[in-house]
Amino acid sequence: MPVVTIKPSGKTVEVASGTSLLAAVLHAGEPIMHKCDGKGECGACHLFLVEGRKTVSRIAPAENAKLDSMIGVGLKSRLGCQAILGNEDVTVELLGFA
Ligand code: FES
Repeated sequence: MPVVTIKPSGKTVEVASGTSLLAAVLHAGEPIMHKCDGKGECGACHLFLVEGRKTVSRIAPAENAKLDSMIGVGLKSRLGCQAILGNEDVTVELLGFA
């Protein structure tokens, strides 16, 4: 099972592959907003996927469009609810949106 490391706290959580990054962060007890309950509409679950990008699901057009409409996003930005874990460990960073 992949391990998700969450910055800046450094907390880690092991979850099943197929879990969204949002669910992993919530499972770890870290603060992250999710106003639309994972529908990819609100952008509140934004995070930076700083390591393990290749093991996480690719960005779908709807997620990409939502990120494009947001301020403060970067190349490593993902919507936590739309990014699904594969089998490898990842590191995410919660900044500015949580
Ligand atoms: S919870 Fe709304 S976009 Fe992820």
